[in-house]
Amino acid sequence: MLWLKAFHIFFVISWFAGLFYLPRIFVNHAMAQEQVVRERLKLMERKLYRFVTPIGALAVITGLWLWLGFGFSGAWLHAKTTLVAGLVVYHFYCGHLVKEFAADRNSRSHVWFRFFNEVPVLVLIAVVILVVVKPF
Ligand code: HEM
Repeated sequence: MLWLKAFHIFFVISWFAGLFYLPRIFVNHAMAQEQVVRERLKLMERKLYRFVTPIGALAVITGLWLWLGFGFSGAWLHAKTTLVAGLVVYHFYCGHLVKEFAADRNSRSHVWFRFFNEVPVLVLIAVVILVVVKPF
């Protein structure tokens, strides 16, 4: 179980590296004036999203395996899984935004993306408190 939890934490950290960085690229993309800069950011967005999606899947799979394979239970786990479900929606919405930017169809401002970028931070704080402290 400890090996599985170690890999779970590794995949979680790697997933969050992408969830923190991709919206930051969106901030820069929404501010970019030159087409050559936009084309480079499109490439970065596409590669980063393609790289971090299987890692996110492995974070969820190892979490579910821990939950269902080792008899963990409690309201903390239901609250955690609900937040993680929201994170998965956030991840796929980033995928939709990658396509919008690729087609030069983005209409949102860099300010909007700065707030959007903070969502994973809040989820991470809540999930880590839930899983380590198990407050309920
Ligand atoms: C559906 C998705 C997930 C499920 C079902 C799940 C379930 C679990 C379970 C059962 C444990 C073991 C808890 C323990 O040893 O006390 C665990 C550990 C952990 N999970 Fe998840 N997890 C999921 C996703 C995530 C995500 C997205 C994060 C980060 C935001 C996360 C962060 C952690 C951390 C930090 C630990 C280690 C806690 C410790 O050693 O005390 N998990 N997870």
